[in-house]
Amino acid sequence: MRACVGDRIVIKGHDVGDRDRDGEILETRGAGGTPPFVVRWDDNGHETIFFPGSDAVVQHLGPPAEEHVAIDVAMRSEHQHLWQLADRVLLAADSLDEAPPDDAPPDLLHEVFHDLVQDVLPHAAAEEQVLYPRIAELLGAPDAMKAMSRQHVELDRLVARLGRLREDALVHGEAAPQRNLRQTLHAVHEVLTLHLASEEELYLPLLESRLTLRQRQELAASMDEATDRARHVGIEPVS
Ligand SMILES: [Fe+2]
Ligand SMILES: [Fe+2]
Repeated sequence: MRACVGDRIVIKGHDVGDRDRDGEILETRGAGGTPPFVVRWDDNGHETIFFPGSDAVVQHLGPPAEEHVAIDVAMRSEHQHLWQLADRVLLAADSLDEAPPDDAPPDLLHEVFHDLVQDVLPHAAAEEQVLYPRIAELLGAPDAMKAMSRQHVELDRLVARLGRLREDALVHGEAAPQRNLRQTLHAVHEVLTLHLASEEELYLPLLESRLTLRQRQELAASMDEATDRARHVGIEPVS
């Protein structure tokens, strides 16, 4: 789901007789106009940060929305956000060095874990569903993306491990596993940055050279829909 400032967001009533709830989008905080949105609600005038569910739709009331951007542009924009997240993963690892061993993990660790689950895993799931099959088709080799898919599995495994280590420290009150957390954060950074660079250097040029602009716009729209679906389903890292 993408929106522009000034668009309307409408949440459909769940039961017969329920009124729709709507508001104005004041700000988009995700990459390329994606959620979360800052919304001013018509019914009470309050402004909140809103993560749309499957019952929410965006209405473009201004001039006609521009054509969907091409997949190479959309991916670079999305990846820019993920590169920044990779930097924050390293910062979170460094911040552990500064904390006393028995301290609770700092907020930055919570934030990067949340963003890895909300942004990286749905992005990878959409690539598995939409992008990688298309690249394999273009290359005429069904197994062409196997090595890249294996990196998605590794990212999933590392995010799950990060979640377990956080839980051990936060919920079960075990001594903060600083060393394990730090190692896992470094591993997430290494796999994520290698993976993003590989996609950008090896596969985006292929899409640019082999697909028409219209095909690349359609692919971007399909990726958007698949990413939204993965977010709504609530991708959990494998345990
Ligand atoms: Fe990927
Ligand atoms: Fe990607």
